[in-house]
Amino acid sequence: MGTTLPAFTPVEKSLYLTLGGRALDSRSPHPVLNDPTAEAIAAKIGYDPATTSVVTSQVRDIALRAKKLDEVVRRFVGQHPDAVVLDLGAGLDDRCSRVRPPSTVDWYDVDLPGVTAVRREVVAPRANVHALAADLTDPEWLAGVPADRPAVIVADGLVAFLGEADFAALLKRLTSHFPAGEVAFNGYTRFHLWAIKHYRGTGSIAGVVRHPGFDDPREPERWDPDLTLVEEILLARAPEVAGYPAAIRWFTRLAALSTAVSRRGTTVLRYRF
Ligand SMILES: C[S@@+](CC[C@H](N)C(=O)[O-])C[C@H]1O[C@@H](n2cnc3c(N)ncnc32)[C@H](O)[C@@H]1O
Repeated sequence: MGTTLPAFTPVEKSLYLTLGGRALDSRSPHPVLNDPTAEAIAAKIGYDPATTSVVTSQVRDIALRAKKLDEVVRRFVGQHPDAVVLDLGAGLDDRCSRVRPPSTVDWYDVDLPGVTAVRREVVAPRANVHALAADLTDPEWLAGVPADRPAVIVADGLVAFLGEADFAALLKRLTSHFPAGEVAFNGYTRFHLWAIKHYRGTGSIAGVVRHPGFDDPREPERWDPDLTLVEEILLARAPEVAGYPAAIRWFTRLAALSTAVSRRGTTVLRYRF
């Protein structure tokens, strides 16, 4: 696609942080996710991951939360080969190539129209994988998605960009649409969102962050009583931390001693409905 970057809106540009993070992870000597598609897709759109503002510890967080969400999807489609998978705010992440679901699964990568148009050009097409252009705050966007199959829904890096009421309405729409399933996303505490707005690596998205954040992982159960929290994954306590470079490893292990401090870092929350 040449070297002119796509004409994304400010909120769409947030995908560069995560795409760049995964590409840098794949370049590192001890990658966490090791996804070569991030680098390949970045090259296709003329994006140089080395220009990303995310710092080393954020690269690991981005890669590790993607890995944990992959695991949620992989386990679910293993148990439900007739499942529908939704990756909400998929950006230019080719999660499907990492998860490799059975061919009986229908997979939907959902993002705003500008991103989805680029996605259709740069992400290799696959049978039963659909790139869906939609604003997730639009109450009608689910109309074309099968409603009679179990669903696993992931949102990697999305929640920060939706207002609290919009995200709560989205959850309700999803749990009403499907008979049963799981929803998983990385959580954002109030501190986390404050940090995103003020840290050097992520300050570029400060103007498009809408969610105020939530400190209690059970808060989404109050927004949508059909949801039950089944897992809170504190990335600071993940076994992958053992492979981090010494300084980051010891800092992370120190944080992991306290649940409250670990929650200030990245968490992946999984709910059943
Ligand atoms: C930080 S990026 C994460 C992208 C991808 N999940 C990844 O990990 O690379 C957030 C994504 O959410 C999308 N997004 C934000 N608001 C949205 C909305 N209202 N409807 C659909 N997508 C949205 C953005 O366009 C962007 O691609």
